[in-house]
Amino acid sequence: MTQEPTVPTSLAGIGATALGVALLRAQESSRPDRLFDDPYARHFLQAVDPAFSPWAAVASPATARFLQLMAEQVAVRTQFLDRALLDAAEGGCEQVVLLACGMDARAFRLAWPPGTKVFELDFADVLAFKAAVLDRHGASATCHRVEVATDLRHDWPRALTEAGFNPERPAAWLAEGILYALPPEAADLLLDRITTLSAPASMLALDHMKDSELLRSARAGISAELVGLWRGGPTEHLDAWLTRRGWQPAVTDIAEAAAACERPIPPAFDPAHAAAGRGWLATAHFPKPR
Ligand SMILES: C[S@@+](CC[C@H](N)C(=O)[O-])C[C@H]1O[C@@H](n2cnc3c(N)ncnc32)[C@H](O)[C@@H]1O
Repeated sequence: MTQEPTVPTSLAGIGATALGVALLRAQESSRPDRLFDDPYARHFLQAVDPAFSPWAAVASPATARFLQLMAEQVAVRTQFLDRALLDAAEGGCEQVVLLACGMDARAFRLAWPPGTKVFELDFADVLAFKAAVLDRHGASATCHRVEVATDLRHDWPRALTEAGFNPERPAAWLAEGILYALPPEAADLLLDRITTLSAPASMLALDHMKDSELLRSARAGISAELVGLWRGGPTEHLDAWLTRRGWQPAVTDIAEAAAACERPIPPAFDPAHAAAGRGWLATAHFPKPR
């Protein structure tokens, strides 16, 4: 008998956003014109008592409104970042690092080249919950998956290298759904640490967004904690932020990325809308020495 997954306390507070993203991935996966298929997303939600988390079921109109504002951003970014990671892995990055992975099931749902190692970093109880749910459903990883239980505010580079990450080899990094939740100095520290651990030919993929009146008021309808979640992230444009540290970035506006996959511009990121913010998707390559 597999054990009932224990829902961690980390998923009750700010970490609950991991379940919000899972809910949007589950919704996208059920569309006939889906941009990706994440068959595991709904299992995470089903393992959580709706009374425990506002995300476990679309409980209130406020939650539904916020999710509706974020839905296209999550759909478009997931497809974009899937492609970026697979391209990097196929191009020779045998190590993939998913920072603050939450309920990201890429280690189970993507067709990784043989020999790929995927490191998943998050709080220990979040990883334990995720593993229990996936075990229960008989999921098996399509790569060599390594859990790294850590707190990203602490010495995670050490935890990662102790788990087998080799900074002498190129890696594909993912910072999805986390930059805007960091104060600027924490975002800088995160990128500095990624850069220090990146061998030439590494790749970094991320999403970022500028907050907006639309998103703020939607979050306020849910909880004050969620309003405070947005801490801004990097203060300069992603291009400059990445270039300054030696990366060669390619930054795409989420509105363009949505148009490229024939999706409407997400209203919270529509430059034509006065109350909207902006959203970006980026890949950056760490050049090989000449
Ligand atoms: C919005 S979710 C993003 C999850 C995932 N990247 C995705 O897009 O589905 C944020 C995740 O960050 C994790 N997290 C927040 N603060 C953290 C910290 N200090 N150390 C490790 N993980 C953290 C939470 O547990 C949660 O899983």
